[in-house]
Amino acid sequence: MTPFDVLVIGELNIDIILDDIQGFPEIGKEIMANQLNLTLGSSSAIFASNLSALGVSVAIVGLLGEDSFADSVKKSLRDKKVNTDFVVSSDRYSTGLTIVMNYGMDRANVTFPGAMEHLTVEDITDQMLLSCKHMHLSSIFLQKGIKKQAVQLFERAKSLGLTTSMDPQWDPAENWELDLGSLLPNLDVWMPNVVEFKNITGVPELTDGLEKIKEYANYVVIKDGINGAHLWDNGNLTSKPAFINNEVADCIGAGDSFDAGFISEFVKGSGLNRCLEVGNVMGAINTLEPGGTTSFKNREYIKKIAKEKFEFTL
Ligand SMILES: Nc1ncnc2c1ncn2[C@@H]1O[C@H](COP(=O)(O)OP(=O)(O)OP(=O)(O)O)[C@@H](O)[C@H]1O
Ligand SMILES: [Mg+2]
Repeated sequence: MTPFDVLVIGELNIDIILDDIQGFPEIGKEIMANQLNLTLGSSSAIFASNLSALGVSVAIVGLLGEDSFADSVKKSLRDKKVNTDFVVSSDRYSTGLTIVMNYGMDRANVTFPGAMEHLTVEDITDQMLLSCKHMHLSSIFLQKGIKKQAVQLFERAKSLGLTTSMDPQWDPAENWELDLGSLLPNLDVWMPNVVEFKNITGVPELTDGLEKIKEYANYVVIKDGINGAHLWDNGNLTSKPAFINNEVADCIGAGDSFDAGFISEFVKGSGLNRCLEVGNVMGAINTLEPGGTTSFKNREYIKKIAKEKFEFTL
């Protein structure tokens, strides 16, 4: 029996969040922030944490430095019952971090990628893959060491009998280079948002983009914010509306929570329509409270919120 349902391959970092700041930083001057929060950052960590909160057994592999931020990342993951035995540490790099400066609804971020760019496919052993049923890769453009050999990684996962998924996330360099022809045949579920999908396929219309990849794509799930999400399955496009939420705190991590909801059902073998609905409800629940993980305490709590706020049975 495989000990874990899902192996997440992901970038790991710490978010240092400064709130209530007295103006914008200026060169040569010092200003004060009245609030500081140190939290687990990264799309992969939000996905892994929320998937675990839904009751799925999750292990994560990522690269950290050997510093106190690394300890803090691992502790936060363990608090969410995400297994960190496969997390690799290296004294050659510092743990990645993002400094977030919040100004009302707007924000300025500075990221130091550090170790998260240096995880490679060699760090992911067959033994790790064989201990899981499903492999999920997030933020491929941030994980430069993985991106170089991503095709080989997905081929290996498939040949070892795993199902696979990937959320590409944003490309900060905006080059959007992905070898879709080689990647998609080994990907069971590709999960970009609508803007990422258009940029990566290089066409402005969703339907044209899907036409372009139809020869080699399996399932494509396209997240579309308040419009919900679309599913492409062997030439058929199905759209499901978002759950209306009039109490949005913020949308940080909504896409990762959607992914967690979708994959939690996919690994159980649920129908794709159910996967899509659970994805949408998890995205909506995410927006009820600030940050990407606050709403997701445990399965019972998530179930209760889904029913009370969105009349949805989980
Ligand atoms: N304001 C909202 N109200 C209700 N549901 C929402 C809202 N925003 C997002 N969602 C849900 O969350 C899902 C994912 O959101 P979105 O499309 O913004 O993903 P994303 O762009 O990948 O997000 P992220 O920035 O987290 O990567 C949507 O498909 C939708 O179901
Ligand atoms: Mg996203």
